[in-house]
Formats: sequence, structure tokens, C-alpha cells
Amino acid sequence: MTSVTADPTLCFPDGFVWGAATSSYQIEGGAEADGRGQSIWDTFCARPGTIADGTSGAVACDHYRRWADDVALMQSLGLGGYRFSIAWPRVIPGGRGAVNVRGLDFYDRLVDGLLASGVQPFPTLYHWDLPQALEDGGGWTVRSTAEAMADYAGVVVERLGDRVQNWTTINEPFVVANHGYLTGEHAPGRSSLRDYLAASHHILLAHGLAADRIRSLQPSARVGATLNFTPAEQMSQTPAGSDRFRTIDDLENRWYVEPIAGLGYPAATVARLGWEQAEVLSGDLDVISQPLDFLGVNFYTRNLVGALEGEQVPHVYADTDMGWEIHAPSIGRLMRDLHARDRFPVFYVTENGAAMPDLARTADGRVDDQDRLAYLHDHLSELHRAIADGVPLAGYFAWSFLDNFEWAHGYAKKFGIVEVEPTTLARIPKASALWYAGVATSNGL
Ligand code: FCB
Repeated sequence: MTSVTADPTLCFPDGFVWGAATSSYQIEGGAEADGRGQSIWDTFCARPGTIADGTSGAVACDHYRRWADDVALMQSLGLGGYRFSIAWPRVIPGGRGAVNVRGLDFYDRLVDGLLASGVQPFPTLYHWDLPQALEDGGGWTVRSTAEAMADYAGVVVERLGDRVQNWTTINEPFVVANHGYLTGEHAPGRSSLRDYLAASHHILLAHGLAADRIRSLQPSARVGATLNFTPAEQMSQTPAGSDRFRTIDDLENRWYVEPIAGLGYPAATVARLGWEQAEVLSGDLDVISQPLDFLGVNFYTRNLVGALEGEQVPHVYADTDMGWEIHAPSIGRLMRDLHARDRFPVFYVTENGAAMPDLARTADGRVDDQDRLAYLHDHLSELHRAIADGVPLAGYFAWSFLDNFEWAHGYAKKFGIVEVEPTTLARIPKASALWYAGVATSNGL
């Protein structure tokens, strides 16, 4: 672990947004409140064996009721931005059609509360909680789900567009398609290559159609998408090693950004997978590649790629509690590569952070998470260097503001900079949150 000392030279650019991130299903709870419809995660969690600890997001952090206290805590920590997601099933319980005004009211109050506290709202429209009714009609394997997303985006923007400046359409399309439709480890739990390829295209199309709709209703909006990247390193120089590296790097790191950047799907991997692209209709790639105001980048770890399917190449450095290797230089390299290759006008790091066991306590009883603090510090140092090299990075959102429901892992994996005490759900800032507050307030490390 690096020892962390304040370094007066690591100042960030004026106006840099220091934020934290969450998502609706992971924190809100209130699963039955105020007319919310069912999402694919409610259904998935109810299926035995899907979630490691048998839990769900039905209560989660109870943010649906405690949001005002959460906003006050953000303000007290000096955060300038909050990235959250809007639950589609709260706003349009059946996925398309009737709007649930009480669901929209919640986000209206949240946005007003954030603005009154000096915290810029950065909402994401889709962070995985698809209305179950749309899944029943085919989910992301069908084109009509992408069209429904544009209508949903329109409903939200009509209500919040007078106050929200920065809109993110989708979160991590790779994980939506890969975990939801290929490995089945996430909702809706399907495992089919054909479904996976169809889903990967329709989620990108949903991004493009939603971006169009946002801009048509709110011409001054700044619109982006959030993608996750796991920079790949080729560990085997054999022909099989090269092939596997190419495929993995294409699927994890290029399949989504390249169409958005106007480069189309990576041709070699399209051919290798035998994808006939029947879903890709004329004009789709233009909708997907419309210029964005920013790209959101999620980074947690790198991927050491061996020659064999399923091979686990031993990690060089320590892992987080997720078994993800800690390798801060990869975030700097990623940002420089993205900037050189794809030339987005502005980047935000929309997620970065670490699950840690959180066993140590300070004398006053807080989680003393020096390991998480060092992770954040080291990744921010790399980002500072990337900015000095010319990468237009405008903000950073720590994942996560709160300990929360970590999908198939349940509540055992803790990413929060703020502890959520499991029985009372009380919020207690960890050492990392207090340190991060200092970073945000001084605009530097
Ligand atoms: C990302 C997700 C986020 C969270 C982190 C740990 O893939 O976007 O919701 O689960 O991983």
C-alpha cells in the first residue's frame, strides 16, 4: 500500500467536479412505494441461487425515504456532483405507456434538493433495472425496447430538463449484454450468444435514440454515455494467445466505444463470432455515433489475458475484495488511449473505487479504510498525470457514495466511502470519505 501524504503540486483544473456515484436499484429500496413497477432485478433476486447472500434491493439503503439526509451528507462532504440513476419502473411501471407521476416526483425532489445544496445532478437513465414488462416482451434482444427507452427518456427530460444539464443515457452496455444475456450472472439471467449480440446492439441503439430525444426536447443539454473498460494485457505471445487477446479486448474494450465513436463494430471479432448483424438496420450506426458532449468512463481493474479459455493468469499486485487486481497505472493508460483514439471532447470518470473488507476501526468507531483511501489516491494521481498529458477530464465520481446492494454479490461486497450500518441503515462516513472531502474541498491531493 502506498502511504498517502498531501502533495501540494497535485492540483486539479478549476471547475473539476468531485462527485460520488450510486444507482437506483442498488440504494433506493422502496420497491413497492408510490406505484413503482417491477424490474428485472426484482424477478431475478427472487429466483433461488442468483444472489450470493440471498438478498435483494427491496430495502437496500432505503434512500427512497432517506434521500434528504443523504443529500445533506453529500453537501457536508463538499461533493460538487452526484451521479445517480433513475429507475425506469418507477417512472413508467409497465415500461411503455402510462407515466407514474409519483415516481417522477421523487426525482424532482431529489434534483431540487441537490441543486439547493450546491451538488450538480448527473442522472443516468438506464443503470440496469429494466421494467419486467419489457423483458416479458423480449428485453434487450428486441428493437422495441430501444424505442421504448427513447420515450422514457422524453418523459424524464420533460420533467427535469429545466434543471438537469448533464444526462447520461446508459451505464455499462458491456455488462448489460455480457452478464445479462451471455453468462447469465445478472438479470435477466439468460445465456445465449445470439441474445447477447442482439442485446449489445439494441442497448447501443437505445443510447442513440435516447440521446436524440433528449436533444430534441432540451437543445442545451449535455449528453453522454457511460462505458466500462478493463484494459487488457496480452500475457501469451502464441497465436492462440494473440487470438484470444484480440477477442477479449474487442468485446470488453472496443465493442461499444467504437460504434459510438463512428468506427463501427470491431470487424475481426464480428467475423469470429459469426455475427450476421441482422439486427443492425440502415441508419442505426449513425444514430449510435452522433457526437457526444462527454464520455463517462468506469474503471476498476485490468485484465491479464492468457491463451486458454477460462485461464486465470496470476495477478501481479494485490486484489480488492472482489478479486480485482489493483493497478492504478492502467487508468492513466486507458484515459490517454481513449483520448488519442476516439477524441471525445470531455471525459468524466463516472465510477472508480474498491470493495474492501472494512475490518479496521478508528478509535471513534469509524471504518478505517486506509486500503480504499490508498486506492482512490493512487488512481487520482494517475488521472492528474493524464490531465497534465492533455486528457480533457472534467470530473471524477467515486464508486460508491454508500455501501449498497452489489448485484449478484448481495451486501457482502462493500464499495462505499460511507458505511451503511446493516441493521439501522445509519450512514457513517469512513476514513476514505473524510479524506475525499478534503480532496474535494482543496481541489487536489
Ligand atoms: C459497475 C456497476 C456498478 C457497481 C460497480 C462495482 O460495473 O456499474 O453498479 O456494481 O460495478
